[in-house]
Amino acid sequence: TRPLKVALLGCGVVGSEVARIMTTHADDLAARIGAPVELAGVAVRRPSRVREGIDPELVTTDATALVKRGDIDVVVEVIGGIEPARTLITTAFEHGASVVSANKALLAQDGAALHAVAEEQGRDLYYEAAVAGAIPLIRPLRESLAGDKVNRVLGIVNGTTNFILDKMDSTGAGYQEALDEATALGYAEADPTADVEGFDAAAKAAILAGIAFHTRVRLDDVYREGMTEVTAADFVSARRMGCTIKLLAICERAADGASVTARVHPAMIPLDHPLASVRGAYNAVFVEAEAAGQLMFYGPGAGGSPTASAVLGDLVAVCRNLVGGATGPGDSAYAQLPVSPMGEV
Ligand code: HSE
Repeated sequence: TRPLKVALLGCGVVGSEVARIMTTHADDLAARIGAPVELAGVAVRRPSRVREGIDPELVTTDATALVKRGDIDVVVEVIGGIEPARTLITTAFEHGASVVSANKALLAQDGAALHAVAEEQGRDLYYEAAVAGAIPLIRPLRESLAGDKVNRVLGIVNGTTNFILDKMDSTGAGYQEALDEATALGYAEADPTADVEGFDAAAKAAILAGIAFHTRVRLDDVYREGMTEVTAADFVSARRMGCTIKLLAICERAADGASVTARVHPAMIPLDHPLASVRGAYNAVFVEAEAAGQLMFYGPGAGGSPTASAVLGDLVAVCRNLVGGATGPGDSAYAQLPVSPMGEV
C-alpha cells in the first residue's frame, strides 16, 4: 500500500512529540491504519529550534508551499492562533489534504467555515486536541453520544487556573502567590491572561457546546469572567458551605430545547460533586445526557505528550478514513439555536 504523507505545521512541544511518536510507533500505526504513514515535511518559523530526531531535510520555513505540494494526505496543524493557521488549513483542503488541528482559538472562531471547506473538498477536519489535551471529548460527544441528547456539559477545561484555585483552597494562599507558583512550575505562561481571564476556557466551551448541542456557538457567544478576583477569604466562605471554587465552563440546553447557554466563570461546587475532586492542573468534563445519564471524562488537559496523544488519535482516524475511501462524521451542527450566555433568550 502507498504510504500516507503527513505534513506537520509547527514543531514546538506538541509537534515534536507528534513527530517522535510517528517515528517510534511507525509499525504499530501502519498496522492500525492499514498503510504506512510517512512524515513528508515539517514547517517551522525557526529551523534552528527544531529538536533532534527530525530529519533536517524535511524542515522548511515555507508552510504555504508545503500545504500546496499536492501529494500531502494529511496536514497536522499545531501552530495555534488564527493566522496563518486558518489560511494554511483552507489551502490544505483545497489541495486535497485532510486536516488534524489542535487549534482551539481557530475552531472556536471559524469552525463552521472550516468544516464547510472540508466538506466541499470531501476531506476530514478532526480536532480532539483542541479541547482538554489527551481527554477524549470531541469524539465521544460527536460520535459515541450521537444517538443520545446531551443536556449539560460542565467542565474544568483549564489546567493553569485549576492549579491556582486548588493551591488557594488547599494552602490558604492568595491569588498572586498561587499564580507565582503556577508560573514557576511552568503551568502559567509569562502572560497568563488567556488562562486567568477565562479566554482559553471560553474557546473550549464554545467548541464543546457547539458539538454537544449540534448548533453554532462561537467564542463571542460565551459569557466570560476570569478568576483573578477570587480571594483566600472566598475559599473560607465556600468551605463553610461545604463547597470549593472552580473555574467552570458551563454549557446548557434550555429546558424547552429552544436555546442554549455557554458561560465561563468561577463557581461554587459542593465538595461531594465529582468535579470538586479534580486537583492540580488536571481537567475534567462532566456530561449529562438523556439516556446515558451522568458521565465524567478526566485527565491531563495540556502538555506535549498528552496533547500529542490526541493528535495521533485523530491522525489514525483520518488515515483510516483515507484508506477506506470514506470521510468521518463532519460538522455536527444542523440547527442554529439562539445562544444566550446567562440562560435567557
Ligand atoms: N493553558 C492551557 C491550560 C493549556 O492551562 O489548560 C491547554 O489549552
